[in-house]
Amino acid sequence: MITQSIKELLVTEPNEQMVTVQGWVRNKRGNKQVNFIALNDGSTINNIQIVVDVENFGEESLKRVTTGAALSVTGMLVPSAGSGQACEVIAKELAVLGEADPETYPIQPKKHSLEFLREVAHLRMRTNLFGAIFRMRNAMAFAIHKYFNEHGFVYWNSPLITASDCEGAGEMFRVTTFDPKNPPLNEDGSVDYKQDFFGKATNLTVSGQLEGELGAMALGKIYTFGPTFRAENSNTSRHLSEFWMIEPEMAFYDLKDNMDLVEDFLKYLLQYALDNCMDDLQFLSKRLQEEEKNKKAEERTMELVEKIRFVLQNDFVRLTYTEAIDILKNSKPNKSGKFKYPVNEWGVDLQSEHERYLVEKHFKKPVILIDYPKEIKAFYMKQNPDGKTVAAMDVLFPQIGEIVGGSQREENYDKLVARMNEMGIPMEGMQYYLDTRRYGSATHSGFGLGFERLLLFVTGMTNIRDVIPFPRCPKNAEF
Ligand code: 4AD
Ligand code: MG
Repeated sequence: MITQSIKELLVTEPNEQMVTVQGWVRNKRGNKQVNFIALNDGSTINNIQIVVDVENFGEESLKRVTTGAALSVTGMLVPSAGSGQACEVIAKELAVLGEADPETYPIQPKKHSLEFLREVAHLRMRTNLFGAIFRMRNAMAFAIHKYFNEHGFVYWNSPLITASDCEGAGEMFRVTTFDPKNPPLNEDGSVDYKQDFFGKATNLTVSGQLEGELGAMALGKIYTFGPTFRAENSNTSRHLSEFWMIEPEMAFYDLKDNMDLVEDFLKYLLQYALDNCMDDLQFLSKRLQEEEKNKKAEERTMELVEKIRFVLQNDFVRLTYTEAIDILKNSKPNKSGKFKYPVNEWGVDLQSEHERYLVEKHFKKPVILIDYPKEIKAFYMKQNPDGKTVAAMDVLFPQIGEIVGGSQREENYDKLVARMNEMGIPMEGMQYYLDTRRYGSATHSGFGLGFERLLLFVTGMTNIRDVIPFPRCPKNAEF
C-alpha cells in the first residue's frame, strides 16, 4: 500500500482526518490504559506518536508491538497533547506486519556503541543516528548532481574494469576469471593474461580520471560519480578499500580555474546541507556534543552547524607546498617533537597530522595547497617551469585533512611521455590516453572529491566506516 510518509504527515494540518501510516516501532511506553508507540518510516529523523487504547486492542496482542516490529496503523490525525510534536495518530486499526523478537533483535532503545553497530551493519540504519547519516548521504549525492547539472557539466561514466593504474601506486584489485590454483603460464613462469577473460591483465579502477579526461576533451566539462577501489592496506579511520569519488574534468581550465571551481562546489554542497538537512544536522550535532562532553574544552570540535557555516563564510587559504613546509618546519609541534613524522626538509610527503595542523591550528580555515614536488605526485600532473614541482592541488579540511586531490594536467605530449619514462610507467596500453595530447590537446584540469570524506565533514562522524552503508576495508567484506 502506498501511504503518506511520516515526514509529510508531521507537517499536515491535523483535523481528525483518517490516515494510514506504516513504519517500524522505535519505542513503546505507557500503562494499562494507553500505549504510546513512536513509529518511524525512515523519511525523517522524527517519529510519529501512535496513541493506542489498550482495552480496544487487547494487552496480549499489543505484546507483539516491540522495538523493530513493522506496523501498519490507521487512525485519526489529531493535534498532539504532548510537547515536541504537532500531531499524533489515535489508532483505530493496528496490524503487526512483522514482529521483531526482543530476545534476539539487536537494536534496542538504548545507546549502542558504534563498534557494535558496525557488526550489525545490516540493521544499523534503523537507528536514529544511521538514519540521519544515510539521509545526509542521499542529500549530498543529489546536491552534487544538481550542482554539475546547473553548471553545464555532462555526467560521464568511466569504466570500473580497466587495465590502467591512474594513480600509479599499484594498489589494485585484480579482475580475472582464472582458476587461482591453475592459471595458464608463460614460458618464463609468469601468468599468461593473454588467455584471461579480457585478453590482458585487468583490475578494478582506482580513479575514473584518465577516461574522464577523454570525455572532457570532447564534451568540455564532465564529471564522474562512482565507486573506486584501492587495495591499500591502510586500516585508518579515513580510508576505505571501496569508496565513492566525484571527479570533474574541465577542458581549458588552468589550476586557478580549478581552485575557483572546487571552492565554489564545496561551498554549494555545504549550503545545500544547511538548507535541506537541518533536522538531521541538529540531531548529529547533539550526538557529537554528547560524545565530546568528557573531553577538555580545547580538544572539542566546533559545533557541527557552526563549523559548516564557518567554512562557508571564509575564503579558502591558497598556498604553495613550499610555503607550507616553511610553516610546518618552524611550527611548535615540529620543534617540540610532537609530530609523528617530523618535517625536516623540502620534498617530504605531508601526513594528515601536518595537514590538520595547517588547517586547524595555523590558518584556522580550509586550505588549498598547490605546487607539490613532482616526486610525490602522479605522472599526469602539469610540470611547472621550475622543473621541481607540479600544478597539483589538494584541499585540506578541518578534522579530515585531505578531502580533495586534483591538478592541472600535463597537456604536452613530449613532456608527458618523458615523465612516464622517468617514472617507469609502461606505454603499452596507454596510447589511448596519449592520443588526447596528440590530437587537439589543450590546457585542462580536474579533481577528485572523496565522497565519504565529505560525509565525515558534514555529519561530524569520525570513522569513515560509519558513513557508507557497507564498508569494505582490509579483512572486512561482510554483508
Ligand atoms: O588524491 P586522490 O588519490 O586523487 C585521484 O584519484 C585523482 N585521480 C583525482 C582527480 O584528479 N581526478 O584521491 C582523491 C580523493 C582524496 O582526496 C580523498 O578524499 C579520496 O579521494 N580518497 C579516499 N577516500 C576514502 N578511502 C580511500 N582509500 C581514499 N583514497 C582517496
Ligand atoms: Mg591525494
